[in-house]
Amino acid sequence: HTWVQHARAGQLISGLLTEPAAAPEIRVHGVAPFLLRHYRAMSETAEAEQARLARLAARTGLIAAAWTGLATVATYATLGGLLLAGAMALSVAGTAVIAIRTGSSSLDSLVLEVNALHEEALFVGDLQRLYAEAAERAIPKGGEPLPEDPREVRFEHVTFSYPGESSRPALDDVTLTLPLGRIVALVGENGSGKTTLVKLLAGLYTPDRGRILWDDVDASAADRHQLAERIAMVAQDFKRWPFTARVNVAVGRSSAPLTEERLAGALDQAGAQDVVADLPRGLDTLLARHFSGGHELSGGQWQRLGIARAAYRRGRILIVDEPTAALDARAELEVFEKIRALASAGQTVVLITHRLASVRHADLVHVLDQGRLVESGTPEELLATGGLYAELYALQADQFTARVPAPEPR
Ligand SMILES: Nc1ncnc2c1ncn2[C@@H]1O[C@H](COP(=O)(O)OP(=O)(O)OP(=O)(O)O)[C@@H](O)[C@H]1O
Ligand SMILES: [Mg+2]
Repeated sequence: HTWVQHARAGQLISGLLTEPAAAPEIRVHGVAPFLLRHYRAMSETAEAEQARLARLAARTGLIAAAWTGLATVATYATLGGLLLAGAMALSVAGTAVIAIRTGSSSLDSLVLEVNALHEEALFVGDLQRLYAEAAERAIPKGGEPLPEDPREVRFEHVTFSYPGESSRPALDDVTLTLPLGRIVALVGENGSGKTTLVKLLAGLYTPDRGRILWDDVDASAADRHQLAERIAMVAQDFKRWPFTARVNVAVGRSSAPLTEERLAGALDQAGAQDVVADLPRGLDTLLARHFSGGHELSGGQWQRLGIARAAYRRGRILIVDEPTAALDARAELEVFEKIRALASAGQTVVLITHRLASVRHADLVHVLDQGRLVESGTPEELLATGGLYAELYALQADQFTARVPAPEPR
């Protein structure tokens, strides 16, 4: 296990040294010598462990061989003694020698087989442990059906910590309502638990304590496939699939037949037609630079495709986590307008954004702070209350209203 740990760390570092995404920092920040140093350290530790194991094997082998030698000498000396004393006929002694040789080679292979079995059993044990863990974590099949047309999703005293994390929970006793058919915004500073909350809503994790109710059906007992069916999500770190632009959008609902009409509708909703129009082969452009003919998009262009993917899915609840972080001012306005249009057509939107100007159009805002819900209400109510939301809002507004100093005359 020690060897495997270090060999894997070495592989990880050598991957970092050659992957395109790391190349700019490796060159500009000069990270290569640092990575190489660690790669060497990992390789040396892995090698030292292998050498230690080899020495151990050699030492055991040496001791075993010495005992074998002594036993062989003793056996043949006894045979010789018996033969010389006339206690054993020559033919019987010859047969004994053959028997001893056959016996000891059979014994040898028995020991080798037992050893191999022991080594393999260690790997099989690991595999079985992982199987058991995978079965524990697998999405359960079946469960209670979710209401066809739920009115709201309610978090009741939900507490959640990420597996293996012992510090403060990512969500701490959160009780809130997400009315469906509205725009609900989640606001809060970095690390306040917004992304965690939507991951729980999407069924990616289940609460440690508390319940998430779809009307009166507990999500933890509900059919998880039905739950996923109702969610469309633009995650904060959504996947940039190394496929064509068409597939990158249509993968939002890969089980449905791909129609041009649905595709065009989704691209339109995300304001992504321009992105596609600029591609050398339109929707059939491969978005993977490492293949010949592949093309790379800018961060904002990717983001629009990510939004188009979620729109293509047509889930009942659209979760958008920082959908406009990489968008220019015009595109941002356009995307929020589309999101508003979706909501007025009855779509539920759960919006996470730090651009508080865009939150003004939300029907309900929940403000999180260090994993706890600290405020809830309409944007106007929250501004009037003068709490955390109002404070963050004022901070942002000040940046725009602060007088720009006049340039000094030359
Ligand atoms: N996969 C993870 N494993 C362990 N801890 C995590 C994981 N993701 C988030 N956390 C922790 O949970 C807390 C809440 O994180 P979360 O991503 O929900 O914040 P956020 O409100 O979305 O922040 P941001 O505005 O930066 O996106 C943080 O303290 C973070 O360290
Ligand atoms: Mg987040």
